Order: sequence, then C-alpha cells, then structure tokens
Amino acid sequence: MRLLTLLGLFCIDYISAFSSPWSWECENHKCIKKEIRKGEENDAVCLEACQMFCSKTSGLWPKPTGTVDISSHIVPLDPARIEVNSRKAGSLINKAVKSFKEDIISRAATTRDSSERDGKPLSISIFLTEPQETDKLTMETDESYHLVISPDEKGKLEVNITAPNFFGSRHALETLGQLIIYDDLRNKLMAPSNVNISDKPAYPYRGILLDTSRNYISVDTIKKTINGMAASKLNYFHWHITDSHSFPYVSKSRPELSLYGAYSPKKVYTERDIDEIIDFAKSRGVRVIPEFDAPAHVGEGWQKTGYVICLNAQPWGSYCVEPPCGQFDVTKDGLYDVLEDIYGDMVEQFDPDIFHMGGDEVHFTCWNNTKSITDWMTERGWGREEADFAKLWGYFQDKAADRLFRKTGKNIPIIMWTSTLTKKEHITKYLPKDKYIIQIWTTGSDPQIDELLTGGYKLILSNYDALYLDCGFAGWVTDGNNWCSPYIGWQKVYDNNPRKIAGSRVNQVLGSEAALWTEQVDSTAVDSRLWPRAAAMAETLWSDPQTSWREAESRLLIHRERLVRRGINADALEPEWCLQNENECPIDKV
Ligand SMILES: *[C@@H]1O[C@H](CO)[C@@H](O)[C@H](O)[C@H]1NC(C)=O
Ligand SMILES: *[C@@H]1O[C@H](CO)[C@@H](O)[C@H](O)[C@H]1NC(C)=O
Ligand SMILES: *[C@@H]1O[C@H](CO)[C@@H](O)[C@H](O)[C@H]1NC(C)=O
Repeated sequence: MRLLTLLGLFCIDYISAFSSPWSWECENHKCIKKEIRKGEENDAVCLEACQMFCSKTSGLWPKPTGTVDISSHIVPLDPARIEVNSRKAGSLINKAVKSFKEDIISRAATTRDSSERDGKPLSISIFLTEPQETDKLTMETDESYHLVISPDEKGKLEVNITAPNFFGSRHALETLGQLIIYDDLRNKLMAPSNVNISDKPAYPYRGILLDTSRNYISVDTIKKTINGMAASKLNYFHWHITDSHSFPYVSKSRPELSLYGAYSPKKVYTERDIDEIIDFAKSRGVRVIPEFDAPAHVGEGWQKTGYVICLNAQPWGSYCVEPPCGQFDVTKDGLYDVLEDIYGDMVEQFDPDIFHMGGDEVHFTCWNNTKSITDWMTERGWGREEADFAKLWGYFQDKAADRLFRKTGKNIPIIMWTSTLTKKEHITKYLPKDKYIIQIWTTGSDPQIDELLTGGYKLILSNYDALYLDCGFAGWVTDGNNWCSPYIGWQKVYDNNPRKIAGSRVNQVLGSEAALWTEQVDSTAVDSRLWPRAAAMAETLWSDPQTSWREAESRLLIHRERLVRRGINADALEPEWCLQNENECPIDKV
C-alpha cells in the first residue's frame, strides 16, 4: 500500500523528452524506486525531490537544530534570475552571494535544456540584526540564522534570511543551496515553495587541521578543503604550517627559514598566498588559525640559526617520535627574538583570536643529552628528573607566550596539545587554565580528559581513535600498517560525540577537530582522506544528534554528492545503488 505519495503535489510542466522509466515515491519516510505508470509521466518524482520531502529532516546536512518546515510543493527556478538584496551589502556578503550563485548556476549548466523561462525568479533578502557589523569569526560569534521561503504575488520565490551577522547569513545560503535541487527528469532546478527553518550550531569550534609540512599542500587544495568546510558548516581551519620536515611558511622578518627549510623554492606559502587563503576562507565563514609548533617538531630551516639541536639525530627512536628529529635549545636567549619575529609576522597576517603553540612530543632525552643544556640546569641547581625537564619546558612556554603577547598586544587564548606538560602533576604549574585551551590527541577514553575537565580546562577534541584521518595506511618507518591503524570509518567519526566523552562537563568542550597529518598524503589525495568523513564530524558538532550514524547514513550519501559537485574528490562510501534505494544497505536497519 502506498502510504504517502507525492503525486499531484507538484506544480510542474509536461515532461518533454522522457528519459527514464523510474520515479521515486515516499513510503514510511523512505524513497522507493518505482516504474513510472503509463499516463502518469507528468507526476513522476525525481530522486532528489523525493529525498527532500520524504525524510523528516530532508536531505539537509548538517541537520538543522531548530524548526524545519518544508512544503511538499516544488516550483521550477530560473537560475539566471537570482537577485539578492541586503541593506548592509558588505563585501563579505557580496562574495558569499557570488559563491552561492556560482554553485547554483554550475548546477543549472548540467541541464540539457537551456531555456528556463518558465522558472520563477529567486529574490533573496538578507537582514542582519546585530548593530555592529563584524568580519571576524570568534568562538563567541552567534552563527544562528532563520530562513523563510514563500511565493510572492508577482510570481517570484521570496527568500528572507535573518541572522545576527554575516556568518549566520552565510550558513543560511548554504542551507538554501541544499534546498535547490536538480530534477533530472525535467532538466530543471527546483525549490520548495514554502520553507521555514531556524538553525544554530551546538559547538562553537568545528575545525579541520591540515599539516602542510610533512608534505606540501598546494594553495588550490587548501582552498578546496575550505570550500568543503563551508559546505558542511565547519568554521576553524587550523593550519599546521611548520614542522621538522619542512618550513614552507615564508616569514617576512626571517625569510632564511623557508629558504633553507622548504622542499623547493616553489613549495612555500608567500604572504600573498596566505592573504588569498585567509580572504577565501573568511567569505566562506571559516577562520584560519596558524600553529607554530615548538619546542619540538622543528628542524629543517633552523640549521643556520644554531637554535635547533638533535637535528636528524640517530637512532631517531631515542630522540623523537618520527624522523627527522629536532628540538629547540630553549636555554639560548637569542631563540626568543627569532620566535617573536615569527609570531609578529603571523599575528599581522592571521590576526588570530586564538593561537596554537603546538607543544607536543618533546623528548627529554634530547635535552638530557645536550651538555650545554644540562650544564645550564645544574648552574640553577635543577636536577635531571622528569619534573626538572618539565620545568625547563615550562620556562620555554612562559617566555614564548610573553613574546607572542608582545605582538598581539593582549593575552589571547593559547591552544596546546596534550603532552607530558599537560599531566596533572605539571599542568597547573605551567599552563594556567585561564590562559590555555588543551587539544586532546590521545584516545577518547584517556583518563587525562577527565583530569583536565575536573581541573577546569577548556578542551578541543581530536582524539586520534576517531578523528585522525591519516590512520589506516601502510607504515612508512616500518612494514605493516601505520601506528594509528586501522582506517577510521565515517561511522566512528560521526559517533564520536563530545557528550559521550565529556559527560556532564561537556560545556567545557569547545568542539572537535578532524586532523589530517600529511606524512602519507599530499595534494593528490587530501580530498579523499578528508571527505566525506570530516562532514560526518561536522554534523555531530553542529546538530549534536541524539541518534547514531544509522539515522544519518542516507543523508550523508546525499551530502557526499554535493561535495563532489563542488569539485571535491570525496570518497564514495557505498555503491550508488544504496543512494537510490534508501536504507536498504546497512544491516540492522533503523
Ligand atoms: C520578507 O521580509 C519582508 C520585509 O520585512 C516582508 O515584507 C516579507 O513578508 C517577508 N517575506 C517572507 C517570505 O517572510
Ligand atoms: C516559523 O516557525 C516558527 C516556529 O514553529 C513559527 O513561530 C513562525 O511563525 C514560523 N514563521 C513562518 C514565516 O512561517
Ligand atoms: C637524564 O640523564 C641522567 C644521566 O644519564 C639520568 O640519570 C636521568 O634519569 C635522565 N633523566 C631523564 C628524565 O631521563
């Protein structure tokens, strides 16, 4: 029995050149593929239209957290007549509207029939309600929006977007883009005639980390990554721009670092490249924050400075976690002048609201085996136990943070990775909770998470067992598989909900970040490592779903198609058959 069909609900034209015998009908919130009956061709429903009306949250990704009211009446659009009115027509809105239009028009270009005269014009009005316009996203930014669509009396489709600021209105444009579907039976773009959606994210920090030191990642690939973030409403791009392998960051005041440290003269990020990326990101609602990892994870580029020790020390296993080793001699005063210069360059370019100082995997053996350092410690009456080396690290961190704040002109929160220094016995001495945010990279069940939360720290979760997207490939320092294998499926990413990890202290979790370390990936495969898995995390952070990946499965298949349409080489998750036969593939169906 057909419980519900969309037949007759559509305001559509006659199908001229009939190209497929298949239509989709909605039964029990599922789209069922049916052969079109003779004489009912004009009522045939394409898959994308069925998907939009049939499930409770339609095909939207991430699913909205407020009202979702979408009519089952659908009307054709004329993509050549999209007008946007915004009283506060800031340049960011103009850029966001331009990307929105390009996205829609590129979809229209796939239609065989270029005449869309019968389509309705789309008239979009954007209302921003905060008195002060801002072009800076922070963790305090209200990213909410309200999207209303209704037909006006002149035959236009009227869209009203109301948001506190640019960032919310841009999310609304993404949602609107997802509501515009391509009807492949009629070769037309269509949109629902009446919509009422209000939406806002559950977590303020929804990030992706990309490492550009282990392998160089092209500017275009970085932009594609940011484009995928925009499509999935992610908002912080954490740029792990330097490490011991290469130093591609061109520092205006210390150009010798990239001169010696880049893989080649072309494999660098110039001031122009960085400005371009920051601008591109901003108009897509994404903030770029740099990480300058220290005092370990340094090496290439620092040779001439005299401040790096244990550079490529062998056997590397004794001095660092992966080759090449390298660590700062933190006892040299001149080091802090170089750091201040680099911080200064970064602060000027990135204008960061939070700064990532890395601070992971410091190997005490390297310091302990450097005579000038142990002499320096002995002179001060320090011993050579773990606690003494933690003190040395704390000494570095204090001095480095001071130099950073000289450049920012004020204290800004600093993010540091979990490490020996974040252990209970050291952290309160060296990393006060009002100054530091801790990023978790150990597993989601690490007892340190609880200790940090009890200690009042704010956290960002990148627990490697769910959010390291480089896991599950061959080893590169040995045979077998790499250290954090196996490959992490999107289901695990989706179910890595901060609530499950932090329990009642979840309000101290700012959000999560999917990390792509690039020892074994470069521009050729960044897309497929990240997508669509990072989008799975995006929904967990935006929507805080009470349900598991099973509920999300059919929508993620739809969202993956969107990413591909935007030029992102997102991995296929399942045969296309599963997209066309909703919910028929996973075992233990919902
Ligand atoms: C959009 O806003 C305008 C101006 O406030 C209002 O006149 C119109 O009714 C609104 N349309 C919708 C669809 O809400
Ligand atoms: C949208 O939905 C909200 C909540 O259900 C309701 O209060 C509001 O009146 C609706 N707005 C429109 C334009 O339908
Ligand atoms: C440093 O080296 C000394 C001498 O070999 C040793 O006794 C001490 O345990 C080492 N310290 C650490 C933290 O490994």
